[in-house]
Amino acid sequence: MPIYHKLGKFPQKRHTQFEKPDGGIYYEQLFGTEGFNGHSSLLYQVHRPTQIKEIVKSYSVEPEIAEGKNIKSLLLKGFEVQPTDDFLESRTDLLVNNDCIIGVAAPKKSFREYFYKNADADEMIFIHRGTGTLRTFMGNIPFEYGDYLIIPRGMIYQIDFDTEDNRLFYTESIAPIYTPKRYKNASGQLLEHSPFCERDFKLPQELETYDEKGDFLIKVKKEGMMHEIIYATHPFDVIGWDGYNFPYAFSIHNFEPITGRVHLPPPIHQTFETTSFVVCSFCPRLYDYHPKSIPAPYNHSNIDSDEVLYYVDGDFMSRNNIEQGHITLHPKGIPHGPAPGATERSIGKTETEELAVMVDTFRPLKVTKAAMGIDDGKYYKSWVE
Ligand SMILES: [Fe+2]
Repeated sequence: MPIYHKLGKFPQKRHTQFEKPDGGIYYEQLFGTEGFNGHSSLLYQVHRPTQIKEIVKSYSVEPEIAEGKNIKSLLLKGFEVQPTDDFLESRTDLLVNNDCIIGVAAPKKSFREYFYKNADADEMIFIHRGTGTLRTFMGNIPFEYGDYLIIPRGMIYQIDFDTEDNRLFYTESIAPIYTPKRYKNASGQLLEHSPFCERDFKLPQELETYDEKGDFLIKVKKEGMMHEIIYATHPFDVIGWDGYNFPYAFSIHNFEPITGRVHLPPPIHQTFETTSFVVCSFCPRLYDYHPKSIPAPYNHSNIDSDEVLYYVDGDFMSRNNIEQGHITLHPKGIPHGPAPGATERSIGKTETEELAVMVDTFRPLKVTKAAMGIDDGKYYKSWVE
């Protein structure tokens, strides 16, 4: 996150003694990415954050692949994934490659009996249904419908859900998730042509600090394995921090669409980027206003990327029979375009209420067994009249 932020108490000079009021010192931790070259924060903790008591068990959570080399366009019915009490168990990986994991989840319960950390990947969790609070050791972020939660790798967190009807769309990214470089100046400030600005970000606010010893379970995801590790001190024991590496949220409803006289390509909807995929937000907007414009997109050969669209709300103008929670995959190597009749239907329309999230990966995606279980089986032939 290219913003400096701070919470709680910390010493005026970094790497110096920070004394506790009742004796002893707080323990400093550098929490950074990309070696010492990426974003980082300096945390001050009540206890040393290194106190492992036991590694209880380790097990594979690697997704089972059904189709490793896919050429089929797919329509996955995301809401057919059944709600499950536990957050981690509910996560259903659908499309994966060595750079990312894309999936959906329908967790019913908050999780308080363990903490979770993804050691490999930044996580982007899009909130389709549900409200609650992302609780992290760097502060809390309340969330609601339409929020993207961006959780950097290594963040220790829990999630409180207000109700049981929660629907999430997530992407885990091996490369850090950033806002697009082309929206920013050399110092990282978002420029005037950016479709959002710093005011639109929800930053962590309330810092929960616990001075507790005992048995604290952190489930650490690393290299397709889940490791259950017991720590001797409460993971939320940060008394203060400052820096650039922290979780934040951004609402899709705060994305200000850019429009033109004729059809503009998907990059104008871009919201986040990594070195291996981009994320775009398709939001309600006015259509192209050239007198002869065709609002529906042209057919296109995304020859170098797999295109994943998660449909959130509204009538998606280029598709037929698309419902909330549906996911389409248009794989690289073959052209795709509007459904039969959609091009003609779009002419003369002045605006759209469509809301969708797109993830375009630069390397092909493998299809999991779980994805095949919710595939409609016939989408790849849907362009034939
Ligand atoms: Fe497309």
